[in-house]
Amino acid sequence: MDNATVVVVGSGGREHALCLSLDSSPRVGSLHCVPGNAGTAQLATNHASEMTTESLVALFERLEADLVVVGPEAPLCAGLADACAALGLACFGPVAALAHLEGSKLHAKQTMQAAGVPTAAFLRLDEGSDVDAALDAYAGHPWVVKRDVLAGGKGVVVTEDRGEARAFIESSIQNDGFVLLEAFLPGEEASMLVVMDGGAYRALPASQDHKRAYDGDKGPNTGGMGAYCPAPVVSPSVHEKIISRIVEPMHQHLSALEVPYRGVLFIGLMIDQHDDPYVVEFNVRFGDPECQVTLPLIRTDMFDLLHGAATDGLHEVELHLHGGSAVTVVLASEGYPASPKKGRLLGGLAQLSASANYGTAWVNFAGVSLNECGEFIASGGRVLSCTALGNDLKTTQEMAYNLLSNIDLEGGHFRTDIAHRAIQ
Ligand code: GLY
Repeated sequence: MDNATVVVVGSGGREHALCLSLDSSPRVGSLHCVPGNAGTAQLATNHASEMTTESLVALFERLEADLVVVGPEAPLCAGLADACAALGLACFGPVAALAHLEGSKLHAKQTMQAAGVPTAAFLRLDEGSDVDAALDAYAGHPWVVKRDVLAGGKGVVVTEDRGEARAFIESSIQNDGFVLLEAFLPGEEASMLVVMDGGAYRALPASQDHKRAYDGDKGPNTGGMGAYCPAPVVSPSVHEKIISRIVEPMHQHLSALEVPYRGVLFIGLMIDQHDDPYVVEFNVRFGDPECQVTLPLIRTDMFDLLHGAATDGLHEVELHLHGGSAVTVVLASEGYPASPKKGRLLGGLAQLSASANYGTAWVNFAGVSLNECGEFIASGGRVLSCTALGNDLKTTQEMAYNLLSNIDLEGGHFRTDIAHRAIQ
């Protein structure tokens, strides 16, 4: 298809990354984003719309969209892909029943059991459960407690404090009816994004996110303070195990369903001391900031890849990759993640975004808006990330940090050790 109209749903760094990548496709004639941010506005037409399924679908129809690409999970869990399917609109993102792989931890565990995929043992606890016996069963390691809801990153507690674990279990049972207690999996984390449809899958290079706010993996959990790709912890032999033990069985399971999975499956992995991979979680979307470092490594036309998966045509799309590495470093507002200060000027960003080069070193906008004078201001916790693509991780890391050094945000903070595990 040529001269295609594409609509990207979402407003973060991930959606800016999707727009940057789609903008490079000669197949895309008209690019739209809803609601978008100040970065997507430089490439696409942003649309202010209510984020309900009905309003979004009305917009897609008005724009005569050839492809809808859904960034975040919430619209998918609310049935956006189902509504698109009912109208014959190609949608990259799974239907609600499959989006519950992210929306419900229990559903994800049961799917992994059905598909024979390795994951941590778990107990489902409700009002009738003996919580002390359950805590005893997993004593000796931190306790991992997971609520069964989409909780915007606040649904999981990992703690060595028995009282904290017990309190979270009890409040979750009170709120949700039940909660999961999982065995702790020691090891190193990695993420793999797998684009799939009913007939094929394409595993993208594995990446590593940095979830803690401060250097040395200290401080509170965040949405992600930076990432790099590929992640050397996923060696060729680990990669082969991930494909044969996790990706293949999941794809077989999901593609045998009446409505197959069409979109990207984010596999959160733990690689143990024996180099064996286990699934920590599934998400039904590109990770943020994993997306920012994975998409630039793909040489395959992004429209072909996403449209192929949305229309069960992925078997015709070959995956071609750049040989290099990508690094992204997130700049966060003062107070992030607890209570980010918003509205502060982003000095240097206007000059930088005019001169930065997609494919070499560039800025992914996330929580960035324009004030009434047309100046860039921080409007979110994670404000932007500086991304670079280069031949090796060390050089690429330096390029990303050099770019970031040009931006001035009062109270802004970033980690200085993104990609350190892979470089040391
Ligand atoms: N970086 C992890 C996520 O997107 O949830």
